[in-house]
Amino acid sequence: MTASAPVSVPVPVLPPGVDPAWLPPAVFRPLGTRRVQVSGSGPLVETVYGEVVHACDRFGGTAVRGTAAAPGVPYDVVLAVGEDGGPDPLGSEGFALERSGGVTRVTGGGPAGLLYGLFHLVRLGEAAFRGGRPREAHRPALALRMLDHWDNVAVHPVMGQVERGYAGGSLFWRDGLARSAPGELARVRWYGRLLAACGVNAVAVNNVNVHRTEARLLTDRVGEVAALADALRPYGIRTHLAVSFAAPVTLGGLPTADPAHGAVADWWAETTARVYAAVPDFGGYVVKADSEGQPGPFAYGRSHADGANLLAGALAPYGGTVHWRAFVYDHRQDWRDRSTDRARAACDHFAPLDGEFAPNAVLQVKHGPLDFQTREPVSPVIGAMPRTRLAVEIQATQEYTGQQRHVCWLGPMWSEVLRFRPGGEEGPGVGDLARGGGLVAVSNAGDDPFWTGHPLAQANLYAVGRLGWRPDADPRAVLREWIEMAFVPGAGADPERLRDGLHAVLDGSWRTYEKYTAPLGAGFMVQPGHHYGPSVDGYEYSRWGTYHFADRDGVGVDRSRATGTGFAGQYAKPWAEVYESAATCPDELLLFFHHVPYAHVLRSGDTVIQHIYDTHFDGVAEAEEARRVWAGLAGLVDPARHARAAERYEEQVRCAREWRDHINTYFFRKSGVPDARGRRIH
Ligand code: GCU
Repeated sequence: MTASAPVSVPVPVLPPGVDPAWLPPAVFRPLGTRRVQVSGSGPLVETVYGEVVHACDRFGGTAVRGTAAAPGVPYDVVLAVGEDGGPDPLGSEGFALERSGGVTRVTGGGPAGLLYGLFHLVRLGEAAFRGGRPREAHRPALALRMLDHWDNVAVHPVMGQVERGYAGGSLFWRDGLARSAPGELARVRWYGRLLAACGVNAVAVNNVNVHRTEARLLTDRVGEVAALADALRPYGIRTHLAVSFAAPVTLGGLPTADPAHGAVADWWAETTARVYAAVPDFGGYVVKADSEGQPGPFAYGRSHADGANLLAGALAPYGGTVHWRAFVYDHRQDWRDRSTDRARAACDHFAPLDGEFAPNAVLQVKHGPLDFQTREPVSPVIGAMPRTRLAVEIQATQEYTGQQRHVCWLGPMWSEVLRFRPGGEEGPGVGDLARGGGLVAVSNAGDDPFWTGHPLAQANLYAVGRLGWRPDADPRAVLREWIEMAFVPGAGADPERLRDGLHAVLDGSWRTYEKYTAPLGAGFMVQPGHHYGPSVDGYEYSRWGTYHFADRDGVGVDRSRATGTGFAGQYAKPWAEVYESAATCPDELLLFFHHVPYAHVLRSGDTVIQHIYDTHFDGVAEAEEARRVWAGLAGLVDPARHARAAERYEEQVRCAREWRDHINTYFFRKSGVPDARGRRIH
């Protein structure tokens, strides 16, 4: 039974065969069996109402729109917009929830807050309707929680439809055009719905490497961006666009893109005005400049602050933001040149510009100094620019972490990054330092029926929003939420076994992956180009600046101040000192910071070489065990999901063995040191 008012924003229909991820219908049952009132105004309130109507239609409850008192029986749930008189303002995205007198009340500080409050209610399930609950207030710690899609509009001859995409084609683009068929847009809306349910509020819809076709999204093809923005808006998602710094030349026909030329600023102003005419709530631009061949301000002798501020100026009248990426380094290095260190580059370029960026310019910094390796220290840029708005960029798409063929739950890695305190124990954490700019993740989603290729990789997508809300959240608790929503509703009689099994295969999967791949923070050692599978020397003599320097005596990069590249000195104390010495450097980062002999004794008590052997044997054993546990969950998991992951576990185990054998054999041959436990090394 539903009430009279028309539904302004119906819940999108999930296209047939597509996995509902963490929003299977059953998670709405506790809400959908009750009498629910929704009040407040604004499009997002209509979305909330649409969700409530949908749930009640399915499960027999009653949805009422407006503020009228309930005829007869009182409401069980009241969802309303407005401050609830609590001690601190909720803010537009915050909400409060409490239960007393048999009524559960969710108050959104604004319509967006009500939407997040609704999904919180859904997460709580029956617990939201039991006994009394004292008021709890929730506000996002980071105002911007964004997914960057590295989606190409046209299929790129090398990178395909989605650069570093492991989940099929793009959700947004197909064969050079925006997806526009009704079913396709419904899927985009569903994606927005999933994102809202985990707390994401922004999406950049195209690749940071702006190729010729997508460049025109900024100008004559902005209508396609507008159509995608229309599909995402009902779930509170703002749309952003990656643009080329050279656009005034390539699209505008100007002779230069120099920020100091008035005509260039005018071009950006006019172009941006047209973007806002098409997308009034447009979020802003994402820019990869002077990076891996993309054009940038260096060509004109200008700084990156000059470049960023040019675009910031065009966006400012509309409240837009430019996300300027700090991924600037020399990608044409000579491996013989030991003085250049790619890890240093971002800090060398950007730290001197602290304080020079416009108020609506955000510097978007990869979480590590290199490139989303399985283990890296936190980028020193994050602690070095207190007067700049910073966004931290993480990579949900598993470029270097198993490409969604391996299970690699990244929540613990991201959590370590976000909790790291660049200035030591007393100082702020990375999560605090990102308040000005937010958390940005390269999306791992595509048009694959499971959204993420490997069904268990959905957990990483879920965690992006949740860690953006609360960077200090316990990743295990985030994982538990996801399990409760995505799996438990279908688990039948034995949810406990399912929960245990999922935690067993996911909790430690990042460390398992780390064990069988590049050791002790050495990084890379992947096959060049596609970055899947082992190739110890794949990047050793290349131009990318990604070396490990293994020889017969030892391995690792000396990045100390005393004898190395000086990178360790880019950190503040205590880290500059901790990383400076091999005696105090954490084991897992040892080879990132130091070149040490194979007999070097780690803080764990093992030698480097024995650690390499042990972790590689252990890592494979752990992958094999995870495959066994997963097989035992058949019958508790949706058969299609189970089959897809089971198939991928075969590949994970095969590839883990390959990694083990390459790494162990390589280091045995280099060092000549046998395994102390006499296991087989080829
Ligand atoms: C990595 C990745 C590229 C990507 C780049 C970036 O280098 O391999 O595909 O373009 O990061 O972040 O811009």
